[in-house]
Order: sequence, then C-alpha cells, then structure tokens
Amino acid sequence: MTCNDAFGYDLTIDDPVAAQAWDRIVAAFLAHSAATPLHLTEALEREPDFAMAHLAKGFFMLLLGRAELAPAAREAHDAAMRIMEGNTATKRERGYETALELYLQGNLAAAADRLEQVMAAYPRDAFALKLVQSMRFVMGDSTGMRRSIEAVHDAYDVDHPAAAYVNGCYAFTLEETGDYLAAEARGRDAVLRAADDAWGVHAVAHVFDMTGRTREGVTWLTNQPEAWAHCNNFRYHVWWHLALFHLERGEYVDVLRLYDTEIRADHTDDYRDISNGASLLTRLELEGVDVGDRWNEMALICAERTDDGCVVFADLHYMLALSNGDAHGKACRLLQSMKRNAERGKTTMAEVSADAGVSAAEGLIRFSHGDYSSAYHALSAARPNMRRVGGSHAQRDVFERLTIDAALRAGMLVEAQVLLNDRIRARGAIDGYADRRLWSIGTFESALAASL
Ligand SMILES: [Fe+2]
Repeated sequence: MTCNDAFGYDLTIDDPVAAQAWDRIVAAFLAHSAATPLHLTEALEREPDFAMAHLAKGFFMLLLGRAELAPAAREAHDAAMRIMEGNTATKRERGYETALELYLQGNLAAAADRLEQVMAAYPRDAFALKLVQSMRFVMGDSTGMRRSIEAVHDAYDVDHPAAAYVNGCYAFTLEETGDYLAAEARGRDAVLRAADDAWGVHAVAHVFDMTGRTREGVTWLTNQPEAWAHCNNFRYHVWWHLALFHLERGEYVDVLRLYDTEIRADHTDDYRDISNGASLLTRLELEGVDVGDRWNEMALICAERTDDGCVVFADLHYMLALSNGDAHGKACRLLQSMKRNAERGKTTMAEVSADAGVSAAEGLIRFSHGDYSSAYHALSAARPNMRRVGGSHAQRDVFERLTIDAALRAGMLVEAQVLLNDRIRARGAIDGYADRRLWSIGTFESALAASL
C-alpha cells in the first residue's frame, strides 16, 4: 500500500493521516519552522514503520553538527533499513537511504550527489531539494547549490505547493554566486507568495549586506519580523543580519541590544547560534567596541565541544569563543582535535580541516594573543580554501576581516590593501568596514576609483 505526498510521489505507508503529517514535516522544514520536530514525532507515532520519516530524522540529526547525535542518526537509518527490507520501498526511498548512509560515513559531498540523483528522477521533490541546499551550504558549495536548483527549477510551476520556498532558495544561491539583481527579485517574489518564507527574507537581506545597502536592510527586516517569528533557531540568525546592518552603520548600541535581547538571549549551544554570537562580538571588537564579559557565556558552552569534529565552520566559531573568552587551554585542545581530524583524511570535514580549518584556527589563536604578523600568515594560508569551511559569504567575512585587521595591526599595509581590494571586488560595494579601513590607511579615493 502507498500514499501520495503533496508533490504527488509515493510514500510506502497506508495511513493517509501519517502522509499528511509527512507533508507538514516538509512544509515546516522549508519554512525553517520550530514545529518541524513536532510533525516528525507525530508522523512516527502515527506510523512507526514510516521509512521516510526515519530517514528524515537521520538527516535532521546530522545537520545539527553534534557528535553525540550521530548514534541517533545511525539508529534512524537502521530503523528505515529494517522497514524497507520488509516492503517494496520506492526508488526514491532507497535513494534517501543510500544518501543518509554516505552522510553517516562522513562523505557529505557524495551524499548530496546521491540526493541529486533522487531529484533528477523526482524533480518535484522539494524535500530532497532543501536537504541538498542545506548540505551544500555546510560545504560552502554555492555553485553546487545554484546548479542543483537550476536542474529542476522548471518543475516548480506556480501550482507546486513549495514553489515560493524553492524560489527563496534559488534567490539565496543567486546571491551567493554574485547575481545580486536576480537574487533580490527572486527573493522578493518568494516572500510575496509565502509570507513565512524566512529563507527568502534572509536571501534579500544577504543582497543588502553584500551591496552595502544597510539602510534598506534595516527597513527590510524591521518591517516584517513575523516572517521569521515562527522559526527554529534560524530566527537568531535573521536578527544577526539586522545587527550586521546596524554594525556597518556604526550603531553599536543597537547591535549590543540585539545581541542581548535576541541573538544570544537564550544562551543556546547550537553551533549556528554560537557562530552568530562569536562572529558579532569579533566584529564589534574589531571596531573598538567594548563587549564586556559577553565572551565568557559562549566560551563555557564551547569548552564542551572541543572534540566534536563534525563541522569545521562550527569548530572555528568555537575557537573564536574559546580564544577570546579566557579559555586558552580549551582552545589548544580544540586545535589538537582539529589536527587529529585533518590527519584522518577520509571524510569531507577531515579534508576541509586539512585544507583550511587547522591553519585558520591557528590564526585565530595567534590573533587573540596579539601576535598579528603570525596571525596574518596563518589566516592567509587558509584563505584560498576558506569557502570550503561552509556558511555564507557574510558569515565567512569575519575571517576575512580578521585577516585584514591582522595585516593592518602588523603594519603590513600593502598586504592589507590587496585583501581589501579583493574583498571589495567580491562584494560589489565598499561597505562600512572597508570604508573605515581604507580611510585608516589613506587609500579610500584610489580604492573607490578602482571599484567604479
Ligand atoms: Fe545569513
């Protein structure tokens, strides 16, 4: 027996109520809704032999990037396998299973490739599409994110129930690949068609960030807080974007207010929440703002994550918190753990650790010790591969800023100028950060002329 999902594809279950719960899982996942795990629980309680729900659980666990959840993800995979051995699972379900197995083995790139094979056979499957977006985002593969969507985009006509959310995803990939005009148009259209498309709202915020349109960014986000009020911890990230606009405008009181009341109000330990906080405090300190004892709250949390080794992007933000939060022993322990992972060399994240993570982490430690020349050299060595640590341009910019400021503080003005010019070219505008650095080294006019 089978039921159909909202996209018209078979689910190997015979309970339409469980199938409806599945549709709610997918809709919630697309909207970054806090209700996603509730719908997952509902589906599995209604139909314990629901292979796709078990597989979804496995993916969700791994995407959280926490070592202690790996056994639960394995359990979810194995439960799905047992169910699928006893029934005539669809090709789609088997595709998800092999993708999850590859992810469990640490081969994130192969897992995403496998899910794209599922998308090729089932192009209207927005759940596979969104999973691939999430996984390639973790790898910093913006080109792959865009290619993945463009391969199936024709399947998302206006009647497709997830069309608006897919447009929001498409907008983000356009932004990350530098097509800002198209990204803004797609993102605005997505939000018009689905008011809770937090990812679409966020994609347009990224456009404003990259193009230095801070006033429009503040207006865009403050005018529609309901668009992300329903979100899981992704809502902290949208508040982080609003804080970035204020930061670029020199409105530091507003940044600290958002930090205390939204971004780190809940002292959560998800790595994405830590990354928002650590990145913001770093940027504030680089602008000379006293952040008080705010580092210590995150350092205490990150001290428990030194042996995670799940996501290099997470490790680097833990490192920021540990090295700035008076936990230098733990920072060294994290560095050793990253080195061990790099030496293993068999997983996607081991490769990223070896290619960029370890060197960047050393640079962060040296910067916190005030050893700016050495920090510059370590961060510069990581720089050609920093895209691979994952996240967005806006998120990785904290490492770019640290590299530039390390050069400036070490008196390496030529090197700083080269980095600033690269950064301006990559972003498409001179933002507040670049403006202040260029004035400090007296080359604003020549940089402006070169960027026009
Ligand atoms: Fe973002």
